[in-house]
Amino acid sequence: MYPIKRNRRLRTNEAIRSLVRETIISPNDFLAPLFIVEGKGIKEEIASMPNYYRFSLDLLEAEIKLLWKLGLKSVLLFVKVPDHLKDNKGTEALNPDGLMQRAIKTVKNICPDLLVMTDVALDPYSSFGHDGIIENGKIANDPTVKVLAEMSVSHVQAGANFVAPSDMMDGRILSIRKALDHENFIDAGIMSYSAKYASAFYGPFRDALDSAPAAIKDIPKDKKTYQMDFANRNEAIRETKMDIDEGADIVMVKPGLSYLDIVRDLRNEVTVPIAVYQVSGEYAMLKAAAEKGWLDHDAVMMEQIIAIKRAGADIIASYFAKDVIKILNQ
Ligand code: PBG
Repeated sequence: MYPIKRNRRLRTNEAIRSLVRETIISPNDFLAPLFIVEGKGIKEEIASMPNYYRFSLDLLEAEIKLLWKLGLKSVLLFVKVPDHLKDNKGTEALNPDGLMQRAIKTVKNICPDLLVMTDVALDPYSSFGHDGIIENGKIANDPTVKVLAEMSVSHVQAGANFVAPSDMMDGRILSIRKALDHENFIDAGIMSYSAKYASAFYGPFRDALDSAPAAIKDIPKDKKTYQMDFANRNEAIRETKMDIDEGADIVMVKPGLSYLDIVRDLRNEVTVPIAVYQVSGEYAMLKAAAEKGWLDHDAVMMEQIIAIKRAGADIIASYFAKDVIKILNQ
């Protein structure tokens, strides 16, 4: 009690502050998302994600080597699929020589020790931009799950260490685990987007991959019949526990900053590693505010990243990964 206790004593200078600091970040905390396109010599900036790029395979080497040099040891791959290869069933997702499969091999060739995780969902392959196959005016759960399981096997065959299903179909983790085990890929892991909300923060990502959902007949132009309602907390616990029972090695909350209450709830409920995805819209917001001179980019970025870890994240997927590490290394 005051005046015996004075909390400011532990804040007197940077030495004491760093001694008692509760949350420390390092390169080990990060998963770096990478966007890949067909073609040659392409490094194109994504309009709504300043300083973030799509790379063609031939230009990946410099980027991968830079990540590794910075101490970033894990990447999460996304591909932008050419329109003429898109259909309702995501057929191209299973092409053993498809862009994702070639990207996995390319990255593993450049840096065999880098941990390669792949996004598993149909939306970049779907002519409708949805994460599932459309049948009778609905996103059909079980037929989609079948494709996701085959897609996962195909990614692991190409050399992926982990698959990251981001689709939110029911039962996909169990089906993927069974399919991987059936092929004897017992060491291939699953990072499940367990509590993934139907969020407007994914906008810039959908620009990056040209994968925005379309409205078709009875299906609305959003993902609310499969991604979670952002008003819900208990549902996140239910979803996550089911995914763990079905075989998820790592679970994820997405988006990040507006959902840190969910991260803390899960931290108190489960013991598997928790990943948080600080998504494209969160990245875009800070970039835009900093561009206007309204926020100090680096200071706010570090504050947000620390907040995500403080909430309970073990792993942070973030477009800021490189920028954060550069600051840590200064
Ligand atoms: C694909 C997928 C999305 C994101 C990651 N995987 C988009 C979506 O579900 O519509 C969003 C990532 C981001 O916004 O940074 N299912």
